[in-house]
Amino acid sequence: MELTWYWLTVMAILAGSLALLATRRKKKLPPGPIGIPILGHLHMLGENPHQNLQRIARDHGPIMYMRFGFAPIIVVSSPQAAELFLKTHDLVFATRPPHQAAKYLSWDQRNLVFGAYSPYWRNMRKLCTIEVLSTLKVNSFRPMRREELALFVESLKEASRLHISVDLSEKVPSLTAEMSCRTVFGKKYNDKDIDERGFKAVIQEAMKLLSVPNLGDYFPFLRVLDLQGLTRKMKALAKVFDDFFERVIEEHVQAGDRPEQAKDIVDTMMSIMQSGECEFQFDRSHVKAIMLDLLIGSMDTAAVSVEWILSELLRNPTVMKKLQKELEQVVGLKRMVEESDLDQLEYLDMVVKETFRLHPVAPLLVPHYAREDSKVNGYDIPKESRIIVNTYAIGRDPNVWTDPEIFIPERFTGSDIDVKGQHFQLLPFGSGRRGCPGIQLGLIQVRLIVSQLVHCFDWQLPNDMPPEELSMNEEFGIVVSRANHLTAIPTFRLQN
Ligand code: HEM
Repeated sequence: MELTWYWLTVMAILAGSLALLATRRKKKLPPGPIGIPILGHLHMLGENPHQNLQRIARDHGPIMYMRFGFAPIIVVSSPQAAELFLKTHDLVFATRPPHQAAKYLSWDQRNLVFGAYSPYWRNMRKLCTIEVLSTLKVNSFRPMRREELALFVESLKEASRLHISVDLSEKVPSLTAEMSCRTVFGKKYNDKDIDERGFKAVIQEAMKLLSVPNLGDYFPFLRVLDLQGLTRKMKALAKVFDDFFERVIEEHVQAGDRPEQAKDIVDTMMSIMQSGECEFQFDRSHVKAIMLDLLIGSMDTAAVSVEWILSELLRNPTVMKKLQKELEQVVGLKRMVEESDLDQLEYLDMVVKETFRLHPVAPLLVPHYAREDSKVNGYDIPKESRIIVNTYAIGRDPNVWTDPEIFIPERFTGSDIDVKGQHFQLLPFGSGRRGCPGIQLGLIQVRLIVSQLVHCFDWQLPNDMPPEELSMNEEFGIVVSRANHLTAIPTFRLQN
């Protein structure tokens, strides 16, 4: 039996290598580093692939060809190249590659994030955009956000009274988790309701499994062996989510029909499912897949963005002071920030943009996938190539930005560059057909939490740490977070 596996593996590797060689000879592929047999370029990736790819692209250019195992990879590292892939030829690259994590953790790619470009995906995305992420819906959750933030500030006031440091890397994700639960499920759940590990740990395990390079994705014949034990873990985690979401759905069914204004997202999706008027297949598995999308989409991304913004503000006290001054002018020191204040906070907007430039939370976006053979900028891009847009490299490109490694929010003064996907030098939410549909909700959460933290409190690093010593090391995942927890001591500064 073992011998059969051995020969099958050897044959598959040989066949794969010959096919790749033939492709290379016939086509004008983009330039790229020389790979090694079998692995291709997988060995060139370290703990922070976005940084490794940035470095490699400096030698090989903004459109680069690589290979992870048998999978062709195109790495895109300049605004002009990003525009070609995400705008000019958007339709060709509007799908997602099939992969093991998406299969097990998103009900066989029935979700939005990993769903293949298809009539189902198009309809589902339209539905979510209108029914779930529209301005009307996002605004309907305003009172909930206000309530959660008041509780959050109250808990920090306690730390201020005691003059003790707060673990913001713990506190902020808990806040966004509460907000996400109330937005998606209509109520808060206790940590243990999902699993004995709690919400945050379970979501973080999902994020990890979604981002770990899985040999089965690059060497399909190895899938069955599950050499890294990932499939086993993914199946176990999928069951945790499935059981929990079933419970949530059941509770909504039991609650019966609620008045329109009391309806949450699960109610909305359930009534679409039950109406039978949907033009595409839409059953419980689809509802669960979308629930996970929304939970993951809104929880981790916003929390990690807030952590990076606060980290930069703590490292740059003059920027922090300037932002506090703006808040004092717009809001005054007698009350907390309201969502209606946000539009007037121009400097806050610049601080957010500048942090997204240096620390895009999803630096490689989510991989796109070539639906057909195509030609981009004179290069042949083979069908089924994975397209990786390195927004981290674009944000730090000295040809695009002056002093790219320095945090200078003022660089956006008088500039029309925004984060909505029209300006390819700044793409924290991606662009085009697969661009983030939750951008409005994401930006509100991030701007609101940051402004509240900065307006209500002065912040000091623990043990009198000098600002420049605050570590900015990163931990790679589908979302790149701080490698070390961010802790700081708050001092309440409002006059009430
Ligand atoms: C600061 C907050 C957020 C950031 C930085 C962010 C960033 C991103 C990025 C970079 C992508 C991939 C784009 C691409 O592949 O081209 C994405 C996709 C997505 N995001 Fe967000 N996001 C945020 C908030 C949210 C929120 C609040 C939701 C929903 C509740 C959400 C739902 C999604 C979904 C469903 C997709 C997949 C879209 C598709 O494949 O068609 N995101 N997001």
